Amino acid sequence: MQREIVVTPKVSLVEANNKKDLATVLMFNSLLGSRTHVGFRDENDMYDVKNKGTIFLIKAGEETVGTVSLMSDGKEGTALVRNLEVLQERQGRGIGTESVYLLLDVMRERGFKKAMLRVRPGNKRARHVYKKVGFEEIGKDNSVGDGVERLVMEKRL
Ligand SMILES: CC(C)(COP(=O)(O)OP(=O)(O)OC[C@H]1O[C@@H](n2cnc3c(N)ncnc32)[C@H](O)[C@@H]1OP(=O)(O)O)[C@@H](O)C(=O)NCCC(=O)NCCS
Repeated sequence: MQREIVVTPKVSLVEANNKKDLATVLMFNSLLGSRTHVGFRDENDMYDVKNKGTIFLIKAGEETVGTVSLMSDGKEGTALVRNLEVLQERQGRGIGTESVYLLLDVMRERGFKKAMLRVRPGNKRARHVYKKVGFEEIGKDNSVGDGVERLVMEKRL
């Protein structure tokens, strides 16, 4: 798939490692956690993801405009995309799409062979973004435990 995105200022992913960064992640989570997605359930959930993977701040230039995480799925070679969030006032300008491309590059660098994610069927914007970067819908999943079915999407890396 051709990649023809020009997003300015330049988008980058920076690992959230210190308390200040993680507080920012939680703040984004509380701003954006909504009907569209669950986000981190609480601080413990966030630390669980951090321990099993990596939480990134999405930067546009110097400004933090969102977060996204990756963790191993437990299956050999499969990485899970979690908690993609872009600040509402910065949405619709290519930042989410570019962040997923960058995350896929990180996954490849780390030797993963496949990326996977779950998304609510009604989250059309997120589904559009994931399809655009090459994810395919492969099935449905009820395992999140909140009674809401998710679409499962996958992409070979
Ligand atoms: C999903 C999200 C990360 C996307 O980030 P973003 O920066 O707005 O994404 P982009 O600007 O790169 O792309 C948005 C795309 O969705 C499209 N879009 C917007 N509303 C849409 C809709 N209702 N249906 C289908 N596509 C839609 C836009 O046209 C654009 O596509 P295009 O570039 O091909 O025209 C952001 O909307 C967000 O943070 N949402 C709340 C949290 C969330 O739902 N996260 C996903 C959890 S699985």
